[in-house]
Amino acid sequence: MPLIALAPMEGVVDYQLRDLLTSLGGIDSCVTEFIRVTDTRLPPRVFTRLCPELINLAPNHIARTPNGTPVAVQLLGGNPELLAFSGARAASMGAAAIDINFGCPAKTVNRHDGGACLLQTPERIYNIVKAMREAVPTATPVSAKIRLGFNDRSRYLDIAQAAADAGADRLTVHARSKVDGYKPPAYWDCVGEINAALAIPVVVNGDIWSVADYLRARAESGCEDVMLGRGLLSCPDLAAQIKAHVNHEDYQPLSWPQVLQLLFSHYQAGKQLFPKKYLGDRLKQWLAHLKRHYPGAQVFFNHIKTLREEPQLDAAFFYALPELPALQRQGAD
Ligand SMILES: Cc1cc2nc3c(=O)[nH]c(=O)nc-3n(C[C@H](O)[C@H](O)[C@H](O)COP(=O)(O)O)c2cc1C
Repeated sequence: MPLIALAPMEGVVDYQLRDLLTSLGGIDSCVTEFIRVTDTRLPPRVFTRLCPELINLAPNHIARTPNGTPVAVQLLGGNPELLAFSGARAASMGAAAIDINFGCPAKTVNRHDGGACLLQTPERIYNIVKAMREAVPTATPVSAKIRLGFNDRSRYLDIAQAAADAGADRLTVHARSKVDGYKPPAYWDCVGEINAALAIPVVVNGDIWSVADYLRARAESGCEDVMLGRGLLSCPDLAAQIKAHVNHEDYQPLSWPQVLQLLFSHYQAGKQLFPKKYLGDRLKQWLAHLKRHYPGAQVFFNHIKTLREEPQLDAAFFYALPELPALQRQGAD
């Protein structure tokens, strides 16, 4: 059965959104936002902050979202020993897998020797993955997430081979170079060359927005497994739609009112977790993605874009979802 992973997305896909998206079905695994490993040995609290799924795990259990989807911990950095130490620590705490980020294009990250800048030196990718694989117990998979290159797409086979030779159990490829940024197209055919060259599972990622894109990405890359990022933010039940298609099952995609309910739950849950001043920003961030798929999201976005205070945001939801008071009363009973 082909697998679908939820992509790591720093500042967007936190554990609360992982919970919400995986609860809609179809997602087989997820990865935390990246944890930066610079010049110190990270204490356990750094891991539990971005991956609360690690807290209070029974012995020999792995981190899972509340609906049971395994959660891998992603690390980013350039120092093999420190990364390996952090990988071993996260594995001992219960990470379902350790993923290494070789794709982040952010200037601040690249300036500090982490993310996509390492794509320029496949031998450094080799050294990092090798140190990680040696430090992390074999029961915990080690994976790498790469782009097709840094300045261009000329060395993706060397980069991928370096990760595989070093012992990576799985490789996810965002089908663009760092310079390509997020500009379409995604070069799924290049991922196909990687997939043909390596013996380990290769996961195709980038620009899968619909069931049709999923089918094309798999056909062009030859990969069994995919990773979905912005596609799941714009269409939260995309993984469930794909699984229903693959299994020849009937499926009714989520309507905008249903998605608005999800957005409201996300907003309500955020009230317990985040400072008030971030509540509006979190909403607007997700709405910016939902706009791509749901015209209603644009309307709601326009309605709340200048609102900052909680009572105003509450009122906007009550106005858009007239049935909310009854639903809330039910929750309070
Ligand atoms: C806001 C944002 C944050 C991201 N954060 C991460 C991250 O923490 N780690 C990572 O490996 N990739 C990160 N990515 C890249 C995504 O995981 C994914 O590779 C990329 O968005 C392409 O897939 P998509 O077209 O399905 O979104 C991020 C992308 C975005 C847009």
